[in-house]
Amino acid sequence: MEKVPAGSLVLRVTPLICLLLVFLLYTVDFGSHEALSDQWKKLRLNWAGSRTEDPIDPEQLHFLLKRLLEGKNQTQLEATGFACHSDFHTEVCVSNRPVRIDMATMKVYAPFSQGLPPANRTISPYARKDDKVAMDFVSPVQVLQGNITFPPACRYNHKVPAVVFSSGGFAENIFHEFNELMIPLFLTSRGFQAHLRFVVTDYRPSFVDKFNKILSHLSSYEVINPAADGTVHCFPAAVVGLHYHDNLAVNTTDIPEGYSMLDFRQFLRESFNLKIQYLSQTEKPVLILISRPKTRTFLNEDQMVTMMKELGFRVVIAKPDMMANLDKFAEVVNSGSVLVGAHGAGLTNEIFLPEGAVMVQVVGLALEWPSTNYYGGPGTEMGLHYLEYKIEPEESSLISLYGRDHPVITDPASIASQGYRVVRDVYLIKQNFTINISRFRNTLVKALELTGQSDPLV
Ligand SMILES: *[C@@H]1O[C@H](CO)[C@@H](O)[C@H](O)[C@H]1NC(C)=O
Ligand SMILES: *[C@@H]1O[C@H](CO)[C@@H](O)[C@H](O)[C@H]1NC(C)=O
Ligand SMILES: *[C@@H]1O[C@H](CO)[C@@H](O)[C@H](O)[C@H]1NC(C)=O
Ligand SMILES: *[C@@H]1O[C@H](CO)[C@@H](O)[C@H](O)[C@H]1NC(C)=O
Ligand SMILES: *[C@@H]1O[C@H](CO)[C@@H](O)[C@H](O)[C@H]1NC(C)=O
Ligand SMILES: *[C@@H]1O[C@H](CO)[C@@H](O)[C@H](O)[C@H]1NC(C)=O
Repeated sequence: MEKVPAGSLVLRVTPLICLLLVFLLYTVDFGSHEALSDQWKKLRLNWAGSRTEDPIDPEQLHFLLKRLLEGKNQTQLEATGFACHSDFHTEVCVSNRPVRIDMATMKVYAPFSQGLPPANRTISPYARKDDKVAMDFVSPVQVLQGNITFPPACRYNHKVPAVVFSSGGFAENIFHEFNELMIPLFLTSRGFQAHLRFVVTDYRPSFVDKFNKILSHLSSYEVINPAADGTVHCFPAAVVGLHYHDNLAVNTTDIPEGYSMLDFRQFLRESFNLKIQYLSQTEKPVLILISRPKTRTFLNEDQMVTMMKELGFRVVIAKPDMMANLDKFAEVVNSGSVLVGAHGAGLTNEIFLPEGAVMVQVVGLALEWPSTNYYGGPGTEMGLHYLEYKIEPEESSLISLYGRDHPVITDPASIASQGYRVVRDVYLIKQNFTINISRFRNTLVKALELTGQSDPLV
């Protein structure tokens, strides 16, 4: 949360009025059981949103819910009021009839689903169901369907549907946060035009803070943290789980009239108030260098920066503390022409580059596959130019750890075949780089040409 600067009269008075206002609203709407500071925080999180829930047209709501099944089990949804779409990565369950959610137990009662035998269905609402490590951090949600005689009484009645998902999984890693949360959230909930409530299990305050701009553009209402709430909320409909397509990807062809990656990027520009859509809207070549301090570190970063400046780039060195403030860093990246970094989560920020900008990935030994599949291919789908700089053994610190003739250097595939743990320990954690400046220069000259921003006089 931002601090209120001392000495500013307006900023000191406004919160008091707001607190009073939100207190009154809460006593009417939600009871006064929550601490004022929590209410204040929620209000801040939801500043742009309205307080009174404003439902969408029921017919449109049913159409949207049905579309979430992506062509599967739609007749089941029509007939019974409840159906799921399940694939390798994720499971999305939809109730188009009223549900009651007991926030204390995360049981979703779908009492009006009919013609279904009573059943308890357990859903882990995080888009990585194929990954056991991630799913260990995801609490299950139980959906009780069929003819339930005594569902619990509603403490709060909502007019908009609930979208239930977990912010557990691979927390605190921006690749996973975009891959498994932000893009899936967009795919699942953008159609509702902000008329929905998010119920975030395994709630992490830092997550809600960091992505507030996105969450508040997808929903006009404050996020519900079930663990802090603990009561029964009733919704006209609900979605449990999020859609997932591919690594940092939106598969345009999946849903007719669906969204594309370019739509997601447009949505991000609106959420973060980013001004630049096309690189041609900028003039000077700005290079953003992702500086990793511990692993896959550029050991001769200073020399790299000198060379970059000599080519005519203005260089921004992005260190972790700069990148931690996503709202600000999104703007920095949005004014960039070229993003340079070693394979790693920081490259996810390519998502904020203008169309026509260049992504340069430094690909360490044995990291070809994840480099292409996590950042290279997706970058191209984002409308970026993508260049790779493949490390020679002489540029990798692994050579001094293992020696030139060790299979780690001469036959990375044989080492990689031992499994992800080995790849992680050797190639992701122990590998640093001393970049061959004259060779890397060629890649950056190409990048500069692609930007169209090279100064013909230099
Ligand atoms: C449709 O629903 C059935 C029963 O719940 C489920 O087993 C099946 O996986 C669903 N189909 C798809 C494609 O998700
Ligand atoms: C589902 O769970 C509830 C309690 O959580 C239990 O009363 C009920 O018998 C269960 N139903 C089935 C079909 O397992
Ligand atoms: C639902 O259950 C009640 C009592 O348990 C029963 O009277 C009613 O017929 C059932 N309805 C349906 C549609 O199965
Ligand atoms: C999205 O497209 C990729 C690449 O074509 C494919 O591998 C993946 O299965 C698709 N995802 C879904 C959910 O259709
Ligand atoms: C890689 O470089 C960083 C930063 O200099 C250092 O902390 C780390 O220990 C190095 N890793 C190895 C395996 O030498
Ligand atoms: C740098 O790369 C060039 C090839 O582009 C090579 O001729 C040169 O020997 C390399 N320098 C070092 C120090 O490895």
